Amino acid sequence: MEAVNEYARHREFDFSDENFRAVVDAIYRIAGISLSDRKENMVYSRLARRLRKLNLNNFTDYLEYVEVDDEEKKAFVNSLTTNLTHFFREDHHFDYLTETLFPDIFARKLSRIRFWSAGCSTGEEPYTLAMVWEHLKNKPANIDFKILATDLDTNVLEAGRQGIYSVDKLAPVDEQYLRWFKQTSQCTPNQKQVSKLLKKPIHFKQLNLMDEWPISGPFQLIICRNVLIYFDKKTQEKLIRRYHSLIEPGGCLILGHSESLGATRGLFENIGKTIFRKIG
Ligand SMILES: C[S@@+](CC[C@H](N)C(=O)[O-])C[C@H]1O[C@@H](n2cnc3c(N)ncnc32)[C@H](O)[C@@H]1O
Repeated sequence: MEAVNEYARHREFDFSDENFRAVVDAIYRIAGISLSDRKENMVYSRLARRLRKLNLNNFTDYLEYVEVDDEEKKAFVNSLTTNLTHFFREDHHFDYLTETLFPDIFARKLSRIRFWSAGCSTGEEPYTLAMVWEHLKNKPANIDFKILATDLDTNVLEAGRQGIYSVDKLAPVDEQYLRWFKQTSQCTPNQKQVSKLLKKPIHFKQLNLMDEWPISGPFQLIICRNVLIYFDKKTQEKLIRRYHSLIEPGGCLILGHSESLGATRGLFENIGKTIFRKIG
């Protein structure tokens, strides 16, 4: 606690409790994100960058500006999202796709497969799905496979569309998949870009999960990992019900390792570590 107070004393800008409350209310209202008091220093340091950039000298003016300027509202939201992700994160989920979900789909002779990566961040999750798809042996011909990849944060979506990653981000990628990453003219010496083949099935789109969804489904898979943890229980359950309505019967919802269905558990059967199959 001492350390926190010490940190607060040396701040460049005043950041009152009232300012912090105003940020907490605004990000909840806009994005459904619940920020606890423990996030105060994080909020300060991320937003102080915006004040510096805009040459403002206090948070009260900044927060008023956010309310009237749509571009700054976007930057405010982008500053407060947490975008940590990596390729093949929780790789047991991708084993499940290879070993069970895809074979089941092929057995049903579907001509159209739709996945949704909701809260896709910088693209590692949808590109992992595309790698798993490309790597499948004996795929039936002419299947129309598409991945919708959405996020609220416009910066991470742009990074996902570019598909350029530093070489150290490729560490979790097994050797057999590395052929889909190439050094292109857009890369610096320690970067690689995903191939056109991996990009092809993915459609990146900005979507705030709190808003209306111009999406019709049905999906064979919705993967929404490490997103619900930022929302309160009521919002989590509302979202899971909305996902449920877009998943086809027998289709899957995959959550992150620390997320659960809560009161909506009766809608799905738990068939693996945070892998749920829609009942009915
Ligand atoms: C920690 S990342 C998870 C990335 C990836 N799914 C994974 O598990 O590796 C959480 C993402 O959720 C997004 N997010 C937060 N609130 C959102 C909202 N209201 N609508 C859409 N996306 C949101 C953030 O922008 C962030 O990119």
